[in-house]
Amino acid sequence: MFPVLQKRKLSENTYLMEIEAPEIAKKAKAGQFLVLRIDEKGERIPLTIADSDKKVITIVFLVVGKTTTELSLLKKGDSLLDVVGPLGNPSKIQEYGNVVIIGGGLGIAPIYPITKALKQAKNKVTAIIGAKSKDHLFWEDRFKEISDRVLIATDDGSKGKKGFVSDVLKELMQKEKIDLVIAIGPPIMMKAVSDVTRDRIKTIVSLNPIMVDGMGMCGGCRVVVDGKVKFACCDGPEFNGHQIDWSELMNRNKTYSDEEKCALGDAGRCQK
Ligand SMILES: Cc1cc2nc3c(=O)[nH]c(=O)nc-3n(C[C@H](O)[C@H](O)[C@H](O)COP(=O)(O)OP(=O)(O)OC[C@H]3O[C@@H](n4cnc5c(N)ncnc54)[C@H](O)[C@@H]3O)c2cc1C
Ligand code: FES
Repeated sequence: MFPVLQKRKLSENTYLMEIEAPEIAKKAKAGQFLVLRIDEKGERIPLTIADSDKKVITIVFLVVGKTTTELSLLKKGDSLLDVVGPLGNPSKIQEYGNVVIIGGGLGIAPIYPITKALKQAKNKVTAIIGAKSKDHLFWEDRFKEISDRVLIATDDGSKGKKGFVSDVLKELMQKEKIDLVIAIGPPIMMKAVSDVTRDRIKTIVSLNPIMVDGMGMCGGCRVVVDGKVKFACCDGPEFNGHQIDWSELMNRNKTYSDEEKCALGDAGRCQK
């Protein structure tokens, strides 16, 4: 069992949870994720390791369906049945020069450990964080501590620039030479960023297809990269954003939408 040490709301529909998991905390590196199951009837879901320290790992999750709703209802003193990790390949951390790292919505948390590691590797790091509105943003203060500059975009203009993170990136590209872009968030946002940088700046994205085992056995996380089939859990999750078949990824992510709505209590979507 994995004890919940803390759970708190970070912003609209977004929660932070600290879990005691010393074996995972010892080994976790930036860019890696875990697969958890709340109880024996629960489904396995992948979440990024947003931070780790000695015995404790931190996850940040957006409530989107049944399992993330149940996770948001747990409190200090409860336990998770299984937590498997760290999984996936760590981010490639080296001195690139001028790096722009972009987190959109739930992607704000996963870019945190990568930003920290890139800064320690002597890069100049600009973090662009974006969300629907200021109520959906979090960790601006934490990013200010670990990066050289934080730029903000909100869809409704309630904080920072009104528009998308890709618009902020476009403006920055006109002003300075950027050596690497990293983007994490919904596939539509990672695609938009990759379209902006195509043929100009190397761009890394972290893919979020449906995963079951997270270890290369089930084939659930199949993605097409540079025309070849890859498994995001063991070949990734980070890939070259310019080589992703984005429409295939977005279509596959909708495969179980009826079952997901049924699990949330929408009886009209349950198969007979
Ligand atoms: C490597 C990786 C890292 C991730 N990191 C984070 C994170 O740090 N924070 C966060 O909020 N979310 C993260 N996700 C997405 C998270 O796994 C899904 O939001 C979660 O599984 C939804 O479960 P649910 O039952 O609440 O929702 P459901 O109603 O079951 O599904 C809602 C949507 O979530 C996605 N999803 C559902 N089941 C899975 C699954 N088994 N694997 C992947 N996606 C699924 C689908 O796109 C689906 O349409 C990550 C996904 C991957 C692959
Ligand atoms: S999650 Fe099963 S192969 Fe990747």
